[in-house]
Amino acid sequence: MGDSEHAWKGTAYPIVPLIPDDRERRLVMTAPGGQHGSRLDPWMQSYARRTTGMTASEIRALFAVASRPEVISLAGGMPCLTALPMDTVATTVARMLSTQGLTALQYGSGQGDPTLREQILEVMALEGISASADDIVVTTGSQQALDLVTRIFIDPGDVVLAEAPSYVGALGVFAAYQAQVAHVTSDDDGLVPQALEERIVALKAAGKRIKFLYSVPTFHNPAGTTLSLARRPQVVEICHQHGILLLEDNPYGLLGFKGEPYAAMRTLSEEGVIYLGSFSKTFAPGLRVGWALAPHAIREKLVLASESAILCPSAYSQMTVSTYLATCDWMAQIKVYRELYRERRDAMVDSLGSLLPQATWTHPEGGFYVWVTLPEGVNAKAMLPRAVTERVAYVPGTAFFADGTGQRNVRLSYCYPDPDRIREGVRRFAGVVQTELDLLETFGPYDATGRGAGPSTGVQSPAPDLS
Ligand SMILES: Cc1ncc(COP(=O)(O)O)c(C=O)c1O
Repeated sequence: MGDSEHAWKGTAYPIVPLIPDDRERRLVMTAPGGQHGSRLDPWMQSYARRTTGMTASEIRALFAVASRPEVISLAGGMPCLTALPMDTVATTVARMLSTQGLTALQYGSGQGDPTLREQILEVMALEGISASADDIVVTTGSQQALDLVTRIFIDPGDVVLAEAPSYVGALGVFAAYQAQVAHVTSDDDGLVPQALEERIVALKAAGKRIKFLYSVPTFHNPAGTTLSLARRPQVVEICHQHGILLLEDNPYGLLGFKGEPYAAMRTLSEEGVIYLGSFSKTFAPGLRVGWALAPHAIREKLVLASESAILCPSAYSQMTVSTYLATCDWMAQIKVYRELYRERRDAMVDSLGSLLPQATWTHPEGGFYVWVTLPEGVNAKAMLPRAVTERVAYVPGTAFFADGTGQRNVRLSYCYPDPDRIREGVRRFAGVVQTELDLLETFGPYDATGRGAGPSTGVQSPAPDLS
């Protein structure tokens, strides 16, 4: 077999060079054997089984429309970067490059820059965590840390416990590794410990292998709730009793609107918790710098998994964050963000209070999101095209469940639009809901009439700005 050929089920065929002009030819190529694949994808039969869990979001197309300026997007989780002192950041980056450019533009350590890892200790100390820099792995955003943890723990069919609802990006990772997600009831105080215990017992009785509990205990995405102080030790204890690792995902912990930050779950157990942090929400997501703090043995496996995936995280991004932490008043910047998001949370919650009496919603004490429960019979996903026509966008609740529930729910985010746009967005949203209720009254529920899209079919990858 020559360089330009390789075998596919015993048949040699030429590798078609991937140059733009050849794209069309590749599209119509028939896979050897004829009956395999489709006209658009001759390789359909070749993909690994795990790719069946990777489905494109049905709402992705709508988000292309939703990003038009006339549409007020209450959908994305994008931090408000206009609040960053961009000149200061630019000077910081320029200084870093002119003094340390040869290191910043070079490959670096697989575990991450030692200086940054020391600084991350200072960041985590704000949540009461005391640890060793040696147990930190710097990742390409905490999203990569989610991927690495899942990769080293999950065999197909293993169970991941997760709050109901859960972060859509984590559900996408779990699906990609063929985990079964078992949701655990959550309320305004976060995960319900008794429900957790019962779920574990039932799953074990059914012979399931539970690998970890995935939780966003503080300023939850999408629920906007926080696990109460009373429940935190109970959750840790239940996990400990049953030998289940706790994966604490905490990108919003420093963005609380009142008082001191919550003590992280990691402060309650060094050996039983993997803690994930990120600079995406407190500094800038474009740098893609996050981290995992893990028990020592796990840390080693994470580094190996990360090296095989990306060799090393970006030295440039890490040194930008490191220089920013060393030379700028990052605590003051976090305070700016907190005040800005508090004002936006107020704008959203007040508007909901005056414009949407038919619904209920959570009251976040930090973070980016409000979780709305609409009246019985409303299908939020089916309602979305009309909302976009009315120039407002949101994320339907089904995106945050692995089992298709959440049809009456909606995640609204208040992080990006300014307070006036938020008020106008909620006004438009309330109008869409009211029309929906009128339609329901006239024509009856979706399932009965076939008017709507029906229940979601499961986990989908998020549209680009759904973080
Ligand atoms: C709960 C949660 N975890 C993880 C992430 C991923 O963040 P990043 O990869 O930017 O650090 C997000 C992003 O929105 C999130 O909300």
